[in-house]
Amino acid sequence: MIMRVIRILEKRMAPLLQVRDLTVRFDTMDGVVHAVSGVSYDLAAGETLAVVGESGSGKSVHVLAMMGLIPKPPGRIAGGQALFEGRDLLTLPEKEMRALRGGKIGMIFQDPMSSLNPVLTVGFQIVESLRKHIGLSKSAAWKRAAELLDLVGIAEPHRRVKQYPHQFSGGMRQRAMIAIGIACEPKLLIADEPTTALDVTVQAQILDLVRKLRKQLGMAVIWITHDMGVVAGIADNVQVMYGGRIQERGPVRAVFRDTRSAYTWGLLQSLPDHDAPAAAGVAGAHRLVQIPGYPPDMLRPPLGDPFAPRNRYATERCLTEVPPLVQAEGAAPGHLVAAWYDLRQVRATQGAALHGATA
Ligand SMILES: Nc1ncnc2c1ncn2[C@@H]1O[C@H](COP(=O)(O)OP(=O)(O)OP(=O)(O)O)[C@@H](O)[C@H]1O
Ligand SMILES: [Mg+2]
Repeated sequence: MIMRVIRILEKRMAPLLQVRDLTVRFDTMDGVVHAVSGVSYDLAAGETLAVVGESGSGKSVHVLAMMGLIPKPPGRIAGGQALFEGRDLLTLPEKEMRALRGGKIGMIFQDPMSSLNPVLTVGFQIVESLRKHIGLSKSAAWKRAAELLDLVGIAEPHRRVKQYPHQFSGGMRQRAMIAIGIACEPKLLIADEPTTALDVTVQAQILDLVRKLRKQLGMAVIWITHDMGVVAGIADNVQVMYGGRIQERGPVRAVFRDTRSAYTWGLLQSLPDHDAPAAAGVAGAHRLVQIPGYPPDMLRPPLGDPFAPRNRYATERCLTEVPPLVQAEGAAPGHLVAAWYDLRQVRATQGAALHGATA
């Protein structure tokens, strides 16, 4: 009896998703692309994690790999695990994976036109998902589809539910995608830059909506974005990726206020001053500064810390040895950094912000 209670408690307390050493490669004509290397993290039930980083840093590939959605070949999982409720997504048979996608794990992608089927009504696409994953009857599913459109803020849902994607505006299509993503009340919603193509007002409305739904449904969210303003507005934790690796990770305020990775610092420096992180307490987020240099060529990834060649504070060791992602010294619990240098020391001795910006 006690053992059973312990097992139930353990299950409740275990993270919803445990990613361990996830490594993804693409075998191309030009060579092997090191897209994702040794990515490890835990996602708690109900947690919202923002994943940020420049183009090509492995943000999309890491989630696509977990969902069994990278093209194989050229893609391959070269190692690791992604335990969702204790089951490894990376080795799950395709049939079970299909049951999870759109069921316990909802997904929203950047371009709704390529994800929505243009020849089926929006309502039908929601109904299909509801019938397949939770076995609703036809009439119950249509009723629920209209409720979902209403929930995501689409006016006249009973009329809209019978329309085709091209009859929706861009913002409405994105909302419809969210409706499909959350239709089966997933435990985890994965959103890959779902608001990038939208104007700021619609973007803000969608963020509001996701915040509301997260509370209502208690779902965990992985939100991939380029926008630090979105991070400040929506996430509990932020994970900064570069060159297929996690550079820094932790509670949003801790990472913004007590930045430990030179790469994160560079990203924050590149924000215009009206961005939301300023309100979250980012010192020095008031000038648009580009990080000098170029992202690494993932066909020939650097030997050590991938950011080292662009980091003027890199040490000899950064160039030759990949730093592990560990708890940052004297930082908030769960604030992790992968760096051989100590950004606090560098900033104290340099007395100014990095990359030539004024603090
Ligand atoms: N099908 C593919 N074949 C070869 N390489 C690929 C393929 N898909 C992705 N890659 C490579 O994997 C790396 C990671 O790409 P990924 O799409 O995850 O970047 P990202 O961080 O999502 O960038 P963005 O912000 O532009 O969406 C890149 O170097 C990319 O070129
Ligand atoms: Mg991407």
